[in-house]
Amino acid sequence: MGRIIAIANQKGGVGKTTTSINLAACLAEKGKKVLAIDMDPQGNMTSGLGVDRNNLEYSVYHALSGECNIGEAMLINVFENLNLLPASIELAGAEIEFAAREDNQYILKNLIKNAKKKFDFVIIDCPPALGILTVNSMTAADTVIVPIQCEFFAIDGLTQLIYTINLIRKQLNKHLEIEGVVFTMFDSRTNLSIQVVDNIKNELDQLIYNTIVPRNVRLAEAPSYGLPINLYDSRSAGAQAYRELADEVINNKMFL
Ligand SMILES: Nc1ncnc2c1ncn2[C@@H]1O[C@H](COP(=O)(O)OP(=O)(O)O)[C@@H](O)[C@H]1O
Ligand SMILES: [Mg+2]
Repeated sequence: MGRIIAIANQKGGVGKTTTSINLAACLAEKGKKVLAIDMDPQGNMTSGLGVDRNNLEYSVYHALSGECNIGEAMLINVFENLNLLPASIELAGAEIEFAAREDNQYILKNLIKNAKKKFDFVIIDCPPALGILTVNSMTAADTVIVPIQCEFFAIDGLTQLIYTINLIRKQLNKHLEIEGVVFTMFDSRTNLSIQVVDNIKNELDQLIYNTIVPRNVRLAEAPSYGLPINLYDSRSAGAQAYRELADEVINNKMFL
């Protein structure tokens, strides 16, 4: 059975999408069958994987709203072993449109109910908010990975995120677990990055992945070429980090 992982943090710009794209791609490179789901209306995961989101017949929005089935919206083998439920601009209206639906926390869960049989990993890129799209993602997920940017205010908002995850566990998805925290944009030249990592390690009672993703310009460039880091610059520090993270995720002892 596969594992459904939501990549979530309500802060923007912390590395959710970069982690979603590159973790998904590195898992696929290791031979795992992966489904990536872009739940952010900004669609950065979709474009970062080289898909033109203005030219889609159907997207995750249409599948969620029942206008098509999941197979019609899914793009098969965008890269080898990596399949994508892309986001289109219509997803921006979903928060309001779905608010009126009675099952509105379970729409994604119902949509992907068979995905665990077909895929080893489902990686969901969440938007930078704790609204309906993130709630759907966490309700559908087995676990959450929280990317944390190594910056001064990194800890702000974490309490709220953990509170939300606990609320979802109580009310919507009792099996939901935080499988780990991953530090991103680490700059070894600054004491600040090092201090942030140390402080959070002391304060957080969560598994922290040993892989620390460095600040690496190749990671920032890759999406503009529509490529994940392992295909854009296979030998970069960014590629190395996300391959290590993929190994850690595969071998996470919660699931062995
Ligand atoms: N490790 C990194 N090194 C360099 N730039 C990065 C790294 N991780 C993310 N970025 C850049 O930082 C910005 C925000 O990252 P992104 O993954 O889009 O965050 P989020 O999805 O949380 O908003 C993007 O421009 C991205 O290319
Ligand atoms: Mg994003």
